[in-house]
Amino acid sequence: MLVQLKVNGRDVAAEITPAMSLASCLRTELGLTGTKLSCEVGECGSCTVLLDGKPVTSCLVPAAQTAGRSVETVEGLASDGSLHPLQEAFIKLNAVQCGFCIPGMIMAAKAALEKNANPTPEEVRFILSGNLCRCTGYQKIVEAVLLAAQEMRDHG
Ligand code: FES
Ligand code: FES
Repeated sequence: MLVQLKVNGRDVAAEITPAMSLASCLRTELGLTGTKLSCEVGECGSCTVLLDGKPVTSCLVPAAQTAGRSVETVEGLASDGSLHPLQEAFIKLNAVQCGFCIPGMIMAAKAALEKNANPTPEEVRFILSGNLCRCTGYQKIVEAVLLAAQEMRDHG
């Protein structure tokens, strides 16, 4: 079956099976491999994308249910050749090790910062509590989100 949706602001069509997840559709049918797949049961957050502006674990969302809806992935963050402040902050603070969890972390953080531009460290930890990282110990990730929030308040 064919599903038509908007991804990172562009209208796209993808050939899917009835059981295919949005994560698989993005990766295999649309070539957007920035969205990672790990547990595939909604536990790790590595597949987090924004669906109509809200973070979802895309391994659990049937692609067929995204017809006519709007999806944002990590590939859509940079604009005019400039990285998003979250991407800049993660690089600046060396908050990335293997990188596998980072697209999901960044998409979850982006959605949260749109609702709360000035979170506390505790709030950032809560925001990212559904996103697991095996490498970093989380501290630098929290600091990167706080730095990005500051940059976005100062220059947004
Ligand atoms: S791959 Fe979707 S939550 Fe782990
Ligand atoms: S940087 Fe490796 S899992 Fe987070």
